[in-house]
Amino acid sequence: MSKASVAAPANIAFVKYWGARDLERAIPVNPSISMTLARCVSHSTVEALAEGTPDEVWLAAEDGSLSPAAESFTRRVRGHLDALRHELGSHAGFRVGTRNNFPAAAGLASSASGFAALAIAVTKVLGLNPAPAELSLLARLSGSGSAARSVFGGYVEWPTPGSGDTESDGEGPAVPLAPAEHWHLRDVIAIVEAGAKEVSSLEGHRRAPSSPYFEKRLAQLPARLDTVRSAIASRDLAALGPGLEEEAIDLHLIAMSSRPPVFYWNPGTTAVLAAVRDLRHEGTAAFSTMDAGANVHVICEAADEPRVAEALARVPGVLSVLRDGVGSGPATAPDLF
Ligand code: PMV
Repeated sequence: MSKASVAAPANIAFVKYWGARDLERAIPVNPSISMTLARCVSHSTVEALAEGTPDEVWLAAEDGSLSPAAESFTRRVRGHLDALRHELGSHAGFRVGTRNNFPAAAGLASSASGFAALAIAVTKVLGLNPAPAELSLLARLSGSGSAARSVFGGYVEWPTPGSGDTESDGEGPAVPLAPAEHWHLRDVIAIVEAGAKEVSSLEGHRRAPSSPYFEKRLAQLPARLDTVRSAIASRDLAALGPGLEEEAIDLHLIAMSSRPPVFYWNPGTTAVLAAVRDLRHEGTAAFSTMDAGANVHVICEAADEPRVAEALARVPGVLSVLRDGVGSGPATAPDLF
């Protein structure tokens, strides 16, 4: 096969990867748990070129036209391709076309979906058919650890459950906890910032241990991970929600108290958080979480999604509302070029 195309979804972390034991290799300090999304996806088309040909990285527009990707993005993609070639024993050059259907670099895990799609498309174009666990490891070679979770649908943990106490923990793949059909949770995303964030999550990981609250959060995590795992197993949003909110606040508290500090929130973020509390006072079970960005993900049951989406759209500072939910993972996609 000379060309392969894959669509891989973003994921929203319920328990966040924040802080790395080895940033280059994306080895996390702590386990993380996420829900894979259905609609927020990155498409990647990869064409194999002759051995030794320099890689090309293109952004694909809706009409099929290609424009050169920005220098910094091209560098990251080439770095991932180098790591994949090394791991898979290939010397091919690659032409890569990529497209996101949601705002990139705004805390919506565009690197997770983008690099998961890239890793899977490269294995396909090389005629390989690795097991999902290996795809998870290949996606993580991008340096975006959360990409390890985006190769699975449904609810996903990384590293493996029960780990956390040996040196090699965290170097393994992500593992599925439950498929999408297990629980049709929705993620209503309030976009309050559509541009790129000022500080990348890579830089956030680097600074995280400098926060005086970093170790405090780690001490609370085993209990929080247990709560989140069992709330997912028993489809109990009332049990999941408070842990979800505490976890997001802890991440941002650590970011804001890192040296130097990282502020991802804007006034729209706090307005949405207040609106979610109001929804709960009115009896709607909706809970907020944010990754490394200003945008707010509101997790709720499918029956409450229309009410939540309407309420968020009315909040000052909200630019748009994306209605997403749990999805079943990567799939083959039409060629972008
Ligand atoms: O995978 P990275 O390096 O982009 O880091 C992801 C960081 C968070 O999105 C904030 C948390 C997570 O686990 O997805």
